[in-house]
Amino acid sequence: MNREDYLSSFETLRGALLSFLGDRSQAFPDQATAITTVANEIRTMVMPDPLPRPRRLPGCRHLAAALEMARGGPMASLAEAFAAFEPAMRWIQTQHYRQALGHDYMDNYGYTNILGYDALIPHDRVIAAFFVIGPGRHYPRHHHEADEIYFPFGGDTLWGQNNEEPQPRPAGEPIHNTAWLPHEMITRDTPLFTFCFWISPGPIKLAQLTD
Ligand SMILES: [Fe+2]
Repeated sequence: MNREDYLSSFETLRGALLSFLGDRSQAFPDQATAITTVANEIRTMVMPDPLPRPRRLPGCRHLAAALEMARGGPMASLAEAFAAFEPAMRWIQTQHYRQALGHDYMDNYGYTNILGYDALIPHDRVIAAFFVIGPGRHYPRHHHEADEIYFPFGGDTLWGQNNEEPQPRPAGEPIHNTAWLPHEMITRDTPLFTFCFWISPGPIKLAQLTD
């Protein structure tokens, strides 16, 4: 992708994110403050020069199924804008999970930060990310200091919080994990594909697995 195409498809993605977040802040007033905080960061992002180098991971092979699933749901326009820009994105993982979760898990997941660490635009308090896990996987209980909201694109993933039984959650609706609340995700037939953000009270610290 040349710089001009890259910047133009990024602006389309930025527009889709702002439109999605604006709509969600109206639909979910309890989350409006957090959503607006992230939207303001996205609105004012300035692209770096030179542009970051893209990187793909083995888990990106689940993207095609993830995007197909998303295209049938309420977040289809955001998925479309993401799909167009995705070849320019840098996919990463929480590397310290490799020891606990194994190579097989690592080969089936990844995320890409628009804002945050190792991101398109570095930010030390806010993360805005797209996250994928392949079918038939368990992202076990973990927690983090940052306040977090997921907006799943669709699918049959079971989302667990605290000690409650993991359950399916509707596409396009927020799943809010407050600071240090243990949470987990169990994928079944579809990949997990979600937009998510973090707002950290201090410099971002990585998630940790928990009992
Ligand atoms: Fe989380």
